Amino acid sequence: MTKPSRILVPATTANLGPGFDCLGMALSLYNEIEVIPLAAAPDSTEIVEIEGEGASELPCDDRNMIVYGMHRVFARAGVTPPPFTLKTVNHIPMMSGLGSSSAAIVGGIVAGNELIGNVFTRDDLLTLATEMEGHPDNVGPALLGGLIVAVATASLPIITQVDVPPLQMVIVTPDLRVATDEARRILPSMLSRHDAIYNIGRAALVVQALSQGDFDLLGRAMDDRLHQPYRKHLIKGYDDVVSAAKAAGASAVAISGSGPTLIAFAPDRHKAIAHEMRQAFAVHEIHSRTWVLEVDRLGARRV
Ligand code: HSE
Repeated sequence: MTKPSRILVPATTANLGPGFDCLGMALSLYNEIEVIPLAAAPDSTEIVEIEGEGASELPCDDRNMIVYGMHRVFARAGVTPPPFTLKTVNHIPMMSGLGSSSAAIVGGIVAGNELIGNVFTRDDLLTLATEMEGHPDNVGPALLGGLIVAVATASLPIITQVDVPPLQMVIVTPDLRVATDEARRILPSMLSRHDAIYNIGRAALVVQALSQGDFDLLGRAMDDRLHQPYRKHLIKGYDDVVSAAKAAGASAVAISGSGPTLIAFAPDRHKAIAHEMRQAFAVHEIHSRTWVLEVDRLGARRV
């Protein structure tokens, strides 16, 4: 690659209620990465120019997750890293449960692959991204788009993309930060058989409901006993915001990824639901941002 190229990577919502670490969907909110190949190594170690979300916090050198992902690709290909710089424009809020770190990993491996002439297939990239992230439910949809059912294995993740009709979803991101590590540490390591059955059935029903656009079924099935009962305590006002969403017409509400973002599903009234959820957080003195988003069907791509 000799000319700059631009890559879009979507936000993702993982878990979708009962599908902990296995279900995820790509959303129409993007980070943009421009990869600029150079003829010689740049003078500075600061090789990433960042605009938007995280601009004042993210590292601009090779500690940057995108750069790290690129170097993992070069190492896997056994090539000397070619010189480059990056410009990124981030729209995905950080540490919010919308897959910003997966977007960086996926953006990095797609950019790295692009820079060395696309020697790796999407399957190769998925394996690499899953190794880096530890679970495929964010990196899968970030790379492939759509609704993804994915199970990590010792080698290639078992992954399938499920067709979904056009859907709009309300995304509400409170001004709270939840570190995924902490949100995983608080989860119990054992689950009763009763609760396992509760989740297995519902995860299957959620996939069916989303694929059919069946909001009634989604409303009955989108519940969880594996992570949400523990994580909701990290989200001030959670119960009131969920109640407000349902009173305003939402069929189902889930914690997006490890939170604190909440995602509400509804056939209509999306703006009104977003407004009511924002107001309910405000009562708890929590400012929040809202989006009405669609399913991204393409995943990370060159544009
Ligand atoms: N499945 C992951 C979790 C998504 O809920 O911890 C966040 O990376």
